[in-house]
Amino acid sequence: MQLAVVIMAAGKGTRLKSKRAKVLHEAGGKTLLRRVVDAARRIVQPSDIYVVVGHQAEQVKQSLSDLNLNFVHQAEQRGTGHAIQQAAPAVAGYAHIIVLSGDAPMIQPQTIARLRDFHIGRSSAMTILTAMAENPHGYGRVIRKAAGSDEVLEIVEQSALNAGHAHEREINSGIYAFSRQALDARLGSLESKNTHGEYYLTDLAAILVSAGQRVLALEASEEEVAGANTIEEVMRLDALLRLRTARRLMASGVTIFRPETSVIDEDVEIGKDTVIEPFVELLGRTTVGEDCRIRSFSILEDATLGTNVLVRNACTVVQSRIGDGAQIGPYAHLRPGSEIGDEAHVGNFVEIKNTILGKRSKANHLTYLGDASIGEGANIGAGVITCNYDGAVKHRTNIGNQVFVGSDSTLVAPLTLGEGAYIAAGSCITEDVPENALALARSRQTIKENWAKTRPRKR
Ligand code: UD1
Ligand code: MG
Repeated sequence: MQLAVVIMAAGKGTRLKSKRAKVLHEAGGKTLLRRVVDAARRIVQPSDIYVVVGHQAEQVKQSLSDLNLNFVHQAEQRGTGHAIQQAAPAVAGYAHIIVLSGDAPMIQPQTIARLRDFHIGRSSAMTILTAMAENPHGYGRVIRKAAGSDEVLEIVEQSALNAGHAHEREINSGIYAFSRQALDARLGSLESKNTHGEYYLTDLAAILVSAGQRVLALEASEEEVAGANTIEEVMRLDALLRLRTARRLMASGVTIFRPETSVIDEDVEIGKDTVIEPFVELLGRTTVGEDCRIRSFSILEDATLGTNVLVRNACTVVQSRIGDGAQIGPYAHLRPGSEIGDEAHVGNFVEIKNTILGKRSKANHLTYLGDASIGEGANIGAGVITCNYDGAVKHRTNIGNQVFVGSDSTLVAPLTLGEGAYIAAGSCITEDVPENALALARSRQTIKENWAKTRPRKR
């Protein structure tokens, strides 16, 4: 076996001050660790990926449970060197090992491949992926043997820097390639005599150099090696990733006003000539067709929109489909399992759940439609409510084509309104209504002439 990838993901992330493990924090709509794993999967098979887990191990494993990866347990987290010591037996059969950090999520597959090829081509014992940093603070510094040489002398951690290192700007990415023989021979020599009392993987550079082994540096871009140790740093990466997604979409013909205000996950697809207004969130596997307009403050999650859809301001659409030419909102809420037909209208303060609203049907004001199937060309008046829940079980409401439901009617499910039926406004409908019938279910109005005059006058 040629190449294994080991991903270090056992640390707590103390500097995040969060209950959640650092590698489970998200940037660009994916966890930091997921990004690293996705890059690794482009280079090796899942069966050649080993994730070192420790802090919140179960949650971390769960987050990757859809992939057939290997996990190595580091019960006590005693440093990056210790993490690799725990992984060493599992990867004993490989010739080369690439080490990635679960908190350096910007790494691209091409760079992992470049590191692999450089490392193997130069018969290196350890190759360190580096970058020249504008602000190197917090990173380990890679000290080369001489300017212009790619041979490394040592890595000096931030806490061990002295005045002589003041001008050193080449940072350690926490991403390396090792020959397994070099690891086997020297991993046991790591010591924990440093400010944190940890076993630093970075110390291997100087150890290998003094054993006469070749340690090389390979430069990548600063953006790609960026690590995240604080929430502010995670959010900086998030902004970068989202802007990158917005740029990709704009390059394919999507108009995004003020892209720095939008929150667009990486897997989102949008057709050309669609316009995204400021402060829109497009999340998960959302797809939007061509010629749509999504107005400000709308949130679409795992939503599928056809072409020429208008989503007015402040709508929430989750796991639902919206057909061509439909109009939604403002302030509409489409909950999971809803399907809005072509050219249908859903207006303000309308909540729809697990419901099909047929072609050209309208529910324009203040309505709740839950567990309903509504045919084509139906009109659902203002304030209509499907009573889908009897306190124990949910029931369905079936409404035929061209049905007119008068305003403020309550439809007590299970219920069927036949095609072309009319429901008088203010009705409480508890029984099925046949096709083309009119149903009135409200008390008759009484008039008491001159009643007001019998009352004492208000002053
Ligand atoms: C590390 C490097 C530093 C480099 C930086 C790049 C060391 C000693 N320092 O510092 O030179 O510039 O990364 O981002 O390696 N982890 C474990 N088990 C542990 C400790 C850590 O799996 O016992 C994992 C963490 O979950 C994390 C990764 O290793 O994903 C890096 O650990 P972290 O503590 O963030 O190292 P840095 O201080 O950033
Ligand atoms: Mg780190």
